[in-house]
Amino acid sequence: MCSDAKRKRGDLTTTQAPFIEEARAGAQLFIDQPYELYSEKNQRTWRKLYHQILPRWERYAHHRFLEGVENVALDPDQIPRLEDINSFLAPLSGFSARAVSGYVPAYLFFDCLRQRAFPTTITIRDEHLLDYLPEPDIFHDAAGHVPMHTDPLFADALVRFGEVARSAALYAQERAEDVTVYRRLENVIKGMARFFWFTVEFGLMRDGSSTKAYGSGILSSFSELEYAIENERAQRYPFQLEWVINQYFEINTFQPLYFVISSFEELFSAIEELEQWIQAGKLDNVAPGEPEIQEADLRSFLDAELSEDSP
Ligand SMILES: [Fe+2]
Repeated sequence: MCSDAKRKRGDLTTTQAPFIEEARAGAQLFIDQPYELYSEKNQRTWRKLYHQILPRWERYAHHRFLEGVENVALDPDQIPRLEDINSFLAPLSGFSARAVSGYVPAYLFFDCLRQRAFPTTITIRDEHLLDYLPEPDIFHDAAGHVPMHTDPLFADALVRFGEVARSAALYAQERAEDVTVYRRLENVIKGMARFFWFTVEFGLMRDGSSTKAYGSGILSSFSELEYAIENERAQRYPFQLEWVINQYFEINTFQPLYFVISSFEELFSAIEELEQWIQAGKLDNVAPGEPEIQEADLRSFLDAELSEDSP
């Protein structure tokens, strides 16, 4: 653990936080949230982001997200403490926000969901980069993701997704001797990542007679939130599993394409279907393209501890 003197050197600005650099250097993935390190500049960034996006949430966010914002009692003026978030989440869905120092290999990430924990970034973007950030920050994770975690049905869908990852890992490990296992697993993870991207991160959903956003990537971007719902250049199509798993995506631009799902029940059913497709080998050879699957992601699946009694 770093000394107090070292901690005082910096704040918790994304890509500039000594606390995070030290955690990574020490290979600490799960960390605490050293709240005292947030500077006035960090708090000011949260306030700007929150006050800017609030009217757009009211206009474009799915009503279940808006209920979640109320239920988790986010403070427009202060970066949330994860312990406070967790005290609100626990009785609603059993979910929790778990602080991480950075990238979480794919299986570990999905397995956290299975255990009702969401890996959560604690740094906040620079105040000069309000609307665009390639990596997640606490505004994306706490304001974009957490409100949906108050919803029991959505929370159950995330847990189900974690279970799908577990059965995908089992599927791969049972074929570990097969020379094609790496290529097949790479495709399965790619298909799962695309599914996650076009639902949990960038999903749209019917809400009464309107189309609204429930995906956190949209809901944490002031500009894309309006674009995704209103702009005539954005393509919006009914959710189709075979399309989603084969559709590549980029993280540096607004999405050209969004999938509209009818309900959280349909989302849950689609996750069930995804599992059946993985078991049937239908994700073994998806269309090439983004996202790139890293060696660490492959290893995380192949090395996962899957014994019956593992939690
Ligand atoms: Fe996200």
